[in-house]
Amino acid sequence: MLRALDRAVRHSVPKPTALIVNFPSNPTAFVANLDFYKEIVAFARRENIWILSDLAYSEIYFNADEPPPSLLAVPGAKDVAVEFTSMSKTYSMAGWRMGFAVGNPKLIQALTRIKSYLDYGAFTPIQVASVAALNGPQDYVSDIRAMYKDRRDVLLRGLSSAGWDVPAPAGSMFAWAPIPPAFADMGSVEFSKLLLKEAGVAVAPGLGFGEYGEGFVRIGLVENTQRLRQATRAIKSFMSRHGAGASTADLLGAASS
Ligand SMILES: Cc1ncc(COP(=O)(O)O)c(C=O)c1O
Repeated sequence: MLRALDRAVRHSVPKPTALIVNFPSNPTAFVANLDFYKEIVAFARRENIWILSDLAYSEIYFNADEPPPSLLAVPGAKDVAVEFTSMSKTYSMAGWRMGFAVGNPKLIQALTRIKSYLDYGAFTPIQVASVAALNGPQDYVSDIRAMYKDRRDVLLRGLSSAGWDVPAPAGSMFAWAPIPPAFADMGSVEFSKLLLKEAGVAVAPGLGFGEYGEGFVRIGLVENTQRLRQATRAIKSFMSRHGAGASTADLLGAASS
């Protein structure tokens, strides 16, 4: 990973000022560990570039023993980094435009200056609601986490029974799904269009997130479990109509029966 980053920085003219990292990731759902962040911080120090870390999914994780770490947990990270989080996911306040940033004082000061040009602060009731959310009982946060985990499990079970094996995301609100082999040649955009037309299910083509996203689609966990079951049933009949419905598990089952 660092080699790719190193190459990107060396070959960019002018040299990048900042590196943006986002884990748990939208769209790949990848969760970085502290060793990863240590390497990134050392790299940024060496190259004299800032790090902007987007920790919007800090509370949406499914492995209870391993909450996603903060990049600021790396000693010295504050010298080169600022980290953002958001009320949108943790407290279901998407669209309320409220979050906060912590880290390097120089960057925070610069952000304060820019914000002062743009507005005079968020609408007061939204600030008050955010204070209430942050200072109030936090059971809500574990309820939200359990809700997304439930949705993830329903989605993955349904897809697996449709013959589409998708790695379980460790966090975020998404599953990053490799296009089933039978459709791989058509690419993520055509596959997403076909799925929408024939199964009535909307997914985001990986290519929309950049060239490295090709070969994948992003599936959101934004619908309730009932709707997710409905979607996976539709995907199952879509897959079997295209002769792509047999999962590894089905094949093993069939072979042993
Ligand atoms: C990685 C990531 N960061 C930030 C946001 C948005 O946060 P906010 O609603 O605070 O702008 C999203 C929402 O989709 C996201 O996926």
